[in-house]
Amino acid sequence: MNLSTNPTVLEKSLPSSYYYLADIYQREKNAIFAREWFCVGREEDIPASGSILVLDVVGESILIARTKDGELKAHYNVCRHRGSRLCSSEDKWNVNLRGGITPAGTIRCPYHQWTYALDGTLLSAPFLGEKGDFQKQEFSLYPVGLQVWGGFIFVNLSPEQAATDGRTLFSQLARSPEKLERYPLRHLRMAKQISYEVAANWKVILENYNECYHCGGVHPELCEIVPDFKRAGGSNLDWGRGIPHRPGAYTFTTSGTTTRLPFPGLSEDEKVRHQGEHVLPNLLVSLSCDHVAAFLLWPQGPERTRIECRFLFHPDEIRKPSFDPSDSVEFWDLVNRQDWAVCERVQAGLRARVHQFGYYAPMEDFNLDIRRYVIERLGKDTDPDAL
Ligand SMILES: [Fe+2]
Repeated sequence: MNLSTNPTVLEKSLPSSYYYLADIYQREKNAIFAREWFCVGREEDIPASGSILVLDVVGESILIARTKDGELKAHYNVCRHRGSRLCSSEDKWNVNLRGGITPAGTIRCPYHQWTYALDGTLLSAPFLGEKGDFQKQEFSLYPVGLQVWGGFIFVNLSPEQAATDGRTLFSQLARSPEKLERYPLRHLRMAKQISYEVAANWKVILENYNECYHCGGVHPELCEIVPDFKRAGGSNLDWGRGIPHRPGAYTFTTSGTTTRLPFPGLSEDEKVRHQGEHVLPNLLVSLSCDHVAAFLLWPQGPERTRIECRFLFHPDEIRKPSFDPSDSVEFWDLVNRQDWAVCERVQAGLRARVHQFGYYAPMEDFNLDIRRYVIERLGKDTDPDAL
């Protein structure tokens, strides 16, 4: 049987070239990363009023500031005057340029000393405006959209377009907040973070997260705790109700148990079952009763992705002298490294000249959502049926 002519058995993946071509990556930057709400961290990353984070979002340097009023604001890290980068830790020429964040809590361009408030408004431009013909209010920093859900900070690099289209973070989140409403996400705090540099396209990583067909072969330790992951190739998993653990187990640790209490307010199912959620394009959330593993994908290029794995716990547990997150961290780190290893194998194999596209098996159905997501945004010529 020629599978390529029988789409009812296996569905075609996106063309292999879409996982490594630079021009596809550039199109994805414009149509996805710079257009959608992109998760960049947690509110706790920037706790103090008057402080600033400098982040690189798919090649765009942005500033996230907590204003003196405690509000979070985001801007492009570029001066409206001549385009200089405002804040940078680089000092290649060893000249210690003046600029960046001032002691007074403003943002100063190192070039001509234009100075902005943390909310982006231009405060002063030396020797301009004395005659009233220079309108400072027209030269605020280029805005970046910022919204928060469950303690996660999302930015939008095209805020005007998003507002025109009515694309808020909450329209993008769709049903996720409702599905996770009993998990106290906003109150959780990070006790550990591991960053991984993975030589794979961001979609390879998303597609791997989205299916458990590989779990039996790749994750023996995980399948010990969650036997359903290896049954029938991980098909028929009830993500609506949550995935059950083996008898006596209820969390993602090597033993399947922990000394930590479950989050307050969970349902009986949520106390013993595992939940997973993804917020395309770059946030994956895996929820046990006592901890959450949040994965932020930071595409670095067509074939490289940095993955921040953040371990979130209830602050009441973190405060206990006996608190030790290593039971979950070590378990996840093993599962993660197994995943990244197969993702890198996929990335290497995708480049074979004969492999024009791959297939999704029926138990990998969720990956059709990712294929559709990319096709809808990049355009019809990415449709695998058009190959
Ligand atoms: Fe996996």
